[in-house]
Amino acid sequence: MTAPRPLSTGRRLWRYARPMRGLLLAGTLALVLNSGVEPAMMYFLQHLLDALKLGGGSMGQINQLFWVLSLLGVLLAATDFAHTFTADYIGQTIVRDLRRDLFARMQHLSLSFYDDQSTGLLMSRATNDVNVLQTRLNYELARLIKCPLSIAALLGLMLYTSWRLTLVSFVTVAVLVPLVDRAGKLMKAHTTGLQDRLGDLSARLQESIAAIRVVQCFGATDVEIGKFEVENANVRRAAMRTVRVRSLLQPLTHLIGLLGLLVVMWFGGYELFVRRSITAGQLLVLLGSLQLITTNFKQLGRALLAQHEILAAAEKIFQVIDTASEVVDRPGAVALEEIEGRVTFAEVGFRYKTGRTVLDGVTLELSPGEAVAVVGPSGAGKSTLANLIPRLYDVTSGQVLVDGHDVRDVTLASLRAQIGIVPQETVLFRGTIRDNIAYGRPDASLDEVVAAAVAANADAFIREFPDGYETLVGERGRTLSGGQAQRVAIARAILRDPKILILDEATSSLDTQNEALVQEALERLMRARTTLVIAHRLSTIQSCHRIVVLQDGQIAESGTHQELLDLGGHYRRSYLLQQGDHAA
Ligand SMILES: Nc1ncnc2c1ncn2[C@@H]1O[C@H](COP(=O)(O)OP(=O)(O)O)[C@@H](O)[C@H]1O
Ligand SMILES: [Mg+2]
Repeated sequence: MTAPRPLSTGRRLWRYARPMRGLLLAGTLALVLNSGVEPAMMYFLQHLLDALKLGGGSMGQINQLFWVLSLLGVLLAATDFAHTFTADYIGQTIVRDLRRDLFARMQHLSLSFYDDQSTGLLMSRATNDVNVLQTRLNYELARLIKCPLSIAALLGLMLYTSWRLTLVSFVTVAVLVPLVDRAGKLMKAHTTGLQDRLGDLSARLQESIAAIRVVQCFGATDVEIGKFEVENANVRRAAMRTVRVRSLLQPLTHLIGLLGLLVVMWFGGYELFVRRSITAGQLLVLLGSLQLITTNFKQLGRALLAQHEILAAAEKIFQVIDTASEVVDRPGAVALEEIEGRVTFAEVGFRYKTGRTVLDGVTLELSPGEAVAVVGPSGAGKSTLANLIPRLYDVTSGQVLVDGHDVRDVTLASLRAQIGIVPQETVLFRGTIRDNIAYGRPDASLDEVVAAAVAANADAFIREFPDGYETLVGERGRTLSGGQAQRVAIARAILRDPKILILDEATSSLDTQNEALVQEALERLMRARTTLVIAHRLSTIQSCHRIVVLQDGQIAESGTHQELLDLGGHYRRSYLLQQGDHAA
């Protein structure tokens, strides 16, 4: 039969099935029984036919055969059910576990991984490849075991009936097997190409949906449609390659089966009429067996294709699951104790894997409780600098220290537990406002959540909603305004009560009225914490103890608002003037 290929992907899939090996064994037993029932039925059918045809049998014999055949029929149905059901159950369980592991891996992967690969490709892996398994990891796969067994048993019956006729059949089979095997290999290559193209397509789709506002405002819909057309045509081309292979190979397999049957039929006639070596019943059974063998081969071919599709999809899923996160706990990393909140950048250098140097020898210390504003042109590396504190990325050179501990020497969980972040883009998860505020502390009581919302100037507007704190937000929920969402995000950070706070342009997209409320909430949030504020707004900047100007990856100036004005350097020239327009 098919040579068992020692594929590591197959073995990994097997590891997912291993916990269910009891069930697997039961299913396999049903399967083995099932493959024995078909030849047995053929055997008794032959006796029934001969008893009827030659009139040589008695009514008693026919009654007996009737009962035996009925029983075998029931056994066939029962074992069919048992092995199909167990196979599908096992398949769905494996898919569930794979999906879980894939999602968990995606959650843990360092941000640098997401920089390298387009999100669309990741999504395609998560959805397409898992969907392939979802639909393919089922009873059809069991035929890899069942069909060879059935074929062997049927061949045994044929041999027992007439070895000469069987010999003819053997030749047919010998022609068929390598063909079917080749078909499977061809399919695997083409399926991989199709999945890659689908990945490109969904990347494009995601990109333009995420950017739909920009696309429409810039009148670029036709351009986007044009780009999509290209990817879309590529998918069709790749799909047609698969279809061409499939549509050519399947009829070919049928044709060979039919030719085989005709050859055997001719020889059968010869044996029956000329040599008189077999009975009519035996010939019918031989032909019937051969038909069944052909069916089994067809099923086997399909199962082989399914197997290759499964392995191609699983291989890609395992690739994602196997991706090592770059930012991980160092062996022997210790938990960071309750900190004071001193943050030190010591000669920090950083570059993204895909780009030039962003930070070059940045040295900066934030004392506990100090608020430092980082200003500088867009692309100066402000967000990058902030991201180094919770180790979203690791420094390329130098050190980031928290209370004197290199952040790489402490556990990620204990480090991040003491850092709060209010990003520019507010993220609201699907769920209630309460869930969203309690996101970093799911155990918080309603009183604590409300207190945080009050401090964030969010309580009033939340109470105006009919459902109050239970109002659903996020996808399919109520849409909050930018300022409202921002205040929910601030409440989220307040509730977590972090010693170190990062505000990354948290007020840059607000209108003036909202700004005042948000600004007030932020100032309350900044109290008694070390805060790194990345800001455009003069009001935000002025509320900080110290201002640092980041320029070309280095700290160009640093001091209080007044000191920097007096210095008459970058700050005075660029930022103050620029801010003056907005803040007025
Ligand atoms: N994930 C990334 N991969 C590669 N380059 C990046 C990435 N994020 C930012 N950069 C680049 O690093 C530089 C600094 O970016 P960033 O820290 O976001 O600047 P800022 O926040 O000051 O506007 C920019 O040139 C930007 O293009
Ligand atoms: Mg930024």
